[in-house]
Amino acid sequence: MEIKVCIGSSCHLRGSYEVIEKLKSLIAEHSLENKVNLAASFCLGKCGAGVTVTGDGEFWEGVTPETVESIFKEKVLGNK
Ligand code: FES
Repeated sequence: MEIKVCIGSSCHLRGSYEVIEKLKSLIAEHSLENKVNLAASFCLGKCGAGVTVTGDGEFWEGVTPETVESIFKEKVLGNK
């Protein structure tokens, strides 16, 4: 699975750096380094709604440093 986190300026202001850090530790915590590839991306064109994150091209809605853990659990752990 490939997760991309937008680091464009609007998403950066909403905490994309923190979202990336949390995703990194969640991936490590669940030993998913071989299954999940985490990448940064330039503006994905959806600057209005939290930090823009995609998983295998699917847009994840409403990601913030506060919600990223539960979204990760649903989208990544729920998918295994
Ligand atoms: S800055 Fe992230 S989608 Fe535009």
